[in-house]
Amino acid sequence: MNTSVAPDNTPKVVLVTGGAGFIGSYVAEALLLRGDRVVIVDEINDYYDVSVKEMNLQLLGEKFTNGQLTVCRGDICDLDFIGGVFERHRPNYICHLAARAGVRPSILDPYIYVHSNVEGTTRLLDLARLYECKNFVYASSSSVYGSSSSTVLSEKDVVETPVSPYAATKKACELIAYTFHHLYGLNTTGLRFFTVYGPRGRPDMAPFKFIERIYHQQPIQQFGDGSTSRDYTYITDIVDGVVRAIDRPLGYQVFNLGNGRPQLLKNFIALVEDCVEKKAIIEYLPEQPGDVSHTCADISKASQLLGYRPSVPFEVGIRITAEWYVSSVAAKAAAAIASKALETSTKVEISKKLQTLEIDSNVQKAFEQMKFRNDRFLAIQGSTDCYSTNTEEASRRFSI
Ligand SMILES: NC(=O)c1ccc[n+]([C@@H]2O[C@H](COP(=O)([O-])OP(=O)(O)OC[C@H]3O[C@@H](n4cnc5c(N)ncnc54)[C@H](O)[C@@H]3O)[C@@H](O)[C@H]2O)c1
Repeated sequence: MNTSVAPDNTPKVVLVTGGAGFIGSYVAEALLLRGDRVVIVDEINDYYDVSVKEMNLQLLGEKFTNGQLTVCRGDICDLDFIGGVFERHRPNYICHLAARAGVRPSILDPYIYVHSNVEGTTRLLDLARLYECKNFVYASSSSVYGSSSSTVLSEKDVVETPVSPYAATKKACELIAYTFHHLYGLNTTGLRFFTVYGPRGRPDMAPFKFIERIYHQQPIQQFGDGSTSRDYTYITDIVDGVVRAIDRPLGYQVFNLGNGRPQLLKNFIALVEDCVEKKAIIEYLPEQPGDVSHTCADISKASQLLGYRPSVPFEVGIRITAEWYVSSVAAKAAAAIASKALETSTKVEISKKLQTLEIDSNVQKAFEQMKFRNDRFLAIQGSTDCYSTNTEEASRRFSI
């Protein structure tokens, strides 16, 4: 097999679908930082708290100008809307990450998954070939491997037995991408992500849920005996893989993007306990239908053709994610206190009051990072980049 293909480094206009979501917002930022123009398309649906997606867009909006970044809100399946986006912005590269994600909800409502994932991808492929885009990179998933008996999952494996509607839609995307490559010569690259985690991660996924629940001393559900294992990939490694794929049009390809080092569930829980310095309360449940018990990515193909080399060890990535979570909880508490205090007090009065209170050191730190402007405390960028704290509880606890 050839080793790493030379990248196309010319400046690009990249359409990033799902750009308000977890992975999409990071990919958009990476592209913008290196000087590409980015057009984000996202319908901002309520699969999880929409304020998280709004915050992702706000963070991007604060860093980049209108000329470089455009945000278009709408459904990728709506032809008038998405056709208009192509006509106005003429993207020459597509990074298609919009999808209904999540395995279990797809069992309850497969139709919405077929709509966003299969119809949506087909619509974008069709527009990409009409507008002669140079490369179409899209998110697939490790879930296409289903209940494969292989210990290491390779792109060479035959994947014909998806065990959830979500997985079936992702496999369908790979098939239709092949067809568009075959019929029209469109370059398409599917990326099979292996559980992605990091700061601002999806609140429905295990890494976020475990950190949140263990930190708040709420029970966590452990499906099975803890001997299941998954390959978790830190967000910056995934972004690196996605950008490498965008820069390398390769005909028709599918790549695993994982870490290649699976983690046992019980070790994962122990690591989170260590990071947040609290003991988990575990509720033991049987394994769930549709869940895959072992995932480990064979990343040799991505390594050879894309030069993909994940570099963030799980222990480091989880520690960073836990620190982000704890500090964002504190920042939100600080913001709640500040906004409550502002109703009645001046900056000096608030500072005096704070000195008389016993304040959690994390909250104190977050407070120090706030600046007073226009007679208002404004959280510095990122300090309100959080969404899991119970603000009422914070205000009560520090009742100012
Ligand atoms: N996060 C992971 O671990 C993981 C693993 C495997 C695959 N993936 C895939 O990676 C992609 C990004 O995942 P994520 O974790 O960032 O998810 P996310 O839910 O945070 O982002 C997806 C975004 O797509 C948008 N969207 C959904 N349907 C749409 C539609 N019809 N029109 C316009 N926008 C729409 C949503 O509003 C959301 O903001 C998805 O395709 C997902 O299936 C993610």
